[in-house]
Amino acid sequence: MIILKITIIGSGFVGATAAHILALKNIVDEIVLIDILEGVPQGKALDMTQSSAIENFKTKIIGTNSYEATKNSDIIIITAGIARKPGMTRDELLQTNVKIVSSVVKQAVQYSPESILIVVSNPLDAMVYTAYKTSGFPRYRVIGMAGILDTARYKTLIADRLNIDAAKIDCFVIGSHGDTMIALPRLTKADGKQLDKLLTKTEIDEIVSKTKNGGAEIVGLLKTGSAYYAPASSIVEMITAIVNDTGKVLPCCVFLNGEYGIKNIFVGVPVILGKEGLKEIVEIELNDEELLLLNNAADAVRELSGLVDCFLADEK
Ligand code: LAC
Repeated sequence: MIILKITIIGSGFVGATAAHILALKNIVDEIVLIDILEGVPQGKALDMTQSSAIENFKTKIIGTNSYEATKNSDIIIITAGIARKPGMTRDELLQTNVKIVSSVVKQAVQYSPESILIVVSNPLDAMVYTAYKTSGFPRYRVIGMAGILDTARYKTLIADRLNIDAAKIDCFVIGSHGDTMIALPRLTKADGKQLDKLLTKTEIDEIVSKTKNGGAEIVGLLKTGSAYYAPASSIVEMITAIVNDTGKVLPCCVFLNGEYGIKNIFVGVPVILGKEGLKEIVEIELNDEELLLLNNAADAVRELSGLVDCFLADEK
């Protein structure tokens, strides 16, 4: 029997919530929740396991502090790292999280050399690059979660404004998971109609700006920590696409190798995920202005990735 095993590194709010949502879906055999904090992953795993008697899921959930228990994982979710405090940008987390992410990736890939890595830690695009460099994995096995979350925020704002179901909105948010996030209103459709036929430019601009600020708004409200329900759902959406080979087009952060005319950098674009990880990069038709924005996003990520290279070199 093939065991479908998912490891989630970091048993904080994002990791633990993702574990629980994933367990409720009952689509994998085993979830390993790992953290450096003693007792926390074990306690959360036990609590979730007890919910299975009510929810009727069969997924086994294990909490651990040891990487040995993560052996032969099919997918590894990396949520480890510090989160923003109110007023901080994601980029300010860079140096600390390069250390954390590179250290956990090093340990995890020793036990699961064939796994697919899904990176969630911030600053997202640079952390995916950190995991890519540290693991030495091919690009199709290192993917970042952000576009699904940013798209969910954008969809929610449009759905609220138009008073329609978010499921009726067709759109992608691409670019970086930061200031150079791109919402693509020209290509956004609500109930089959183009967004600019339904809302004024000022209204659309406001939605786009709120989308970009979506994470910071929640950090400001929570005071400690950052968002976790929508990030966790986004992680589970990616796992589902991979294990069920759904073929759904999802915006994710992947390494571009000439697609969209951009090379050697991680940036958010629409993709199809499958059993091997990244199956296909979907090249939607962007106009010159949108392409320029995507290039700006790639440049911003390139700058941070350059710093990642320096930090990784220092560690050696
Ligand atoms: C957010 C953080 C997790 O966007 O990046 O909420």
